[in-house]
Amino acid sequence: IGTKEIKGLILPGAIDLHVHFREPGYEEKEDFYTGTLSAAFGGVTFIMDMPNTNPPVKDISSFQDKLRRVAPKANVDFSLYFMLGNNAEILKEVNPAFKLYMGETTNVEGGEIKSVENAFISVHAELSECIRRESKNLRDHDLARPESCEVKAVKMLLGKGNYHIAHVSSIDTIDLCKAGRFTYEVTPHHLFLHRDMPLGTYGKVNPPLRAKWMAEKLWEELINGRIDIVASDHAPHTIEEKEQEFFAAPAGIPEVETYVPIFMYMVKIGKLHLSRAVEILMQRPAELVGVKKGKIEEGYDADLIAFNLNDIKKIRAKDLHYKCGWTPYEGFNALFPHTVIVGGETVVENYELVGERTGKFVRIGGE
Ligand code: DOR
Ligand code: ZN
Ligand code: ZN
Repeated sequence: IGTKEIKGLILPGAIDLHVHFREPGYEEKEDFYTGTLSAAFGGVTFIMDMPNTNPPVKDISSFQDKLRRVAPKANVDFSLYFMLGNNAEILKEVNPAFKLYMGETTNVEGGEIKSVENAFISVHAELSECIRRESKNLRDHDLARPESCEVKAVKMLLGKGNYHIAHVSSIDTIDLCKAGRFTYEVTPHHLFLHRDMPLGTYGKVNPPLRAKWMAEKLWEELINGRIDIVASDHAPHTIEEKEQEFFAAPAGIPEVETYVPIFMYMVKIGKLHLSRAVEILMQRPAELVGVKKGKIEEGYDADLIAFNLNDIKKIRAKDLHYKCGWTPYEGFNALFPHTVIVGGETVVENYELVGERTGKFVRIGGE
């Protein structure tokens, strides 16, 4: 589809299989209301929330407690991951969505490899044994958690089950994922940011930002159809936390509201084919987890987002709706949706909130 002459565009809502909305336990960084509000304003109508909360989501009672808290606050549809650990066979009846942390990162230690049949397992593939704990700047952080660490982790998974590899940051990992028939995601920050940008702790994330050439290489893979999906890994931390010394600042970048608008701008300027954008942001993520979303077709949920392709805006932290109030994408060009509909209910119209708290829990793995 040529986009030069097109002014308006209606697409299925985007699907983000990887966010950290921090509830319960870290509500100073984000809560489910602000996280899902931010998602809606960014054109994301279904999110899957990670379990590294306090307490972590690892059994029926922590799951139900979380669901009870967050469901009344949801502005978009959502699903919840379990930590992959004990009783996975029982837990998967509740929701067959698991997170496997192979190495340490924010609030998690990292655990042993497990597998579950007929479940979606998102893997944080970095091994504790090859992580150096302290780093003093972005370049050093890259070396402290090197690409080889990710490669080694994914190698260990080969032949052990069906996995989805989260936030792939190296081209070598992609080759391995292909060999292992794993699906995988890349994050917007590994595509649009790199370790030599003057971001300081605001660019500190795990796995780290890599060299510029690597970001360009990942983008090439993406436009050529060799990447399954993009997921944000929206991981907010407060400005106060990020203003610490480099080694003390927590890792993570907030971006659930900004990545679809940046991708739509890439479509607008011809750097990404529209059909490819729809595949990686909407269709393929829905397929991976088995939800009736990501397509405008009978039998699919009425989650829709609409754009005016002439309405290019600059990203400004002060205009965003998540809680932590900063973005590494300040000044980037973006196309935000003017209208967002979740399950037939209009949430955003003319870039303003018109309906809220209409999101619902979705069990994944359906037909
Ligand atoms: O940078 C990261 N932040 N990587 C992770 O794996 C966790 C995340 C977080 O929860 O802050
Ligand atoms: Zn991770
Ligand atoms: Zn994450």
